[in-house]
Amino acid sequence: HHNQDFVGKRVLITSGPTQEAIDPVRFISNHSSGKMGAAIADAFANSGAEVHLVLGAGAKKPKSPSIKIYPVKSANEMYEESSQLHEKMDICVFAAAVADYAPKNVASEKIKKEGADMTIALVKNVDIAYSLGKIKRPHQLHIGFALETENEVFHAKQKLEKKKFDMIILNSMRQKGAGFQLDTNKVSLFFEDGSAIESDVLPKEQIAKIILEGIKKIPVKI
Ligand code: PMT
Repeated sequence: HHNQDFVGKRVLITSGPTQEAIDPVRFISNHSSGKMGAAIADAFANSGAEVHLVLGAGAKKPKSPSIKIYPVKSANEMYEESSQLHEKMDICVFAAAVADYAPKNVASEKIKKEGADMTIALVKNVDIAYSLGKIKRPHQLHIGFALETENEVFHAKQKLEKKKFDMIILNSMRQKGAGFQLDTNKVSLFFEDGSAIESDVLPKEQIAKIILEGIKKIPVKI
């Protein structure tokens, strides 16, 4: 199953959840397991690419020993690592489920249980894919994901444009066998020219191969 399709290419992949601290013992996060990102990282490594994986806390590690792993916790840390790597990369795949908001203040001591309600003020996090999209150069390919629960195709196409992706991979929470945690996924790939490729429900390893095939179809920009 090894091939030479991406020899000489440097690939950045973000994967897994971010954790946004509330206090020293608590955080806000999501259900991402890192399985999708790990499968993509291995698929690229098996195709000869130099793979750099920025990995959220607790996310699944890939199998290939050649992959460089950069462990992070928060969205800010994921952004810092990713932006340091970005300039040298040929392909970036944003598979991480990044928290859109983080606690405004991180309590330095464990928050005490007092009163019937409590409120945590949140502030918007940096959008990693959007920020790096603004400094993307013509030879660089940016591949995004869209995890949606309604109006899936509309939102995916909106993100494709807004974040300057060359291709976006839609996975829907309404689709059985797709999304977080599972060993399988079902995806639709959307390209800038409006064309699309749809997969069946397949193991994430197979989905990763379909994604790499999709990336090979992206027209070269001059
Ligand atoms: O990890 P698994 O359990 O295997 O599950 C895989 C997955 C469902 C997490 C994965 O396939 C997936 O869809 N990842 C993206 C999840 C997501 O946060 O999607 P979004 O629609 O909110 O974000 C759109 C794109 O912008 C994504 O490429 C995301 O990585 C990126 N983004 C979003 C917010 C942010 N602050 N920074 C970002 O870079």
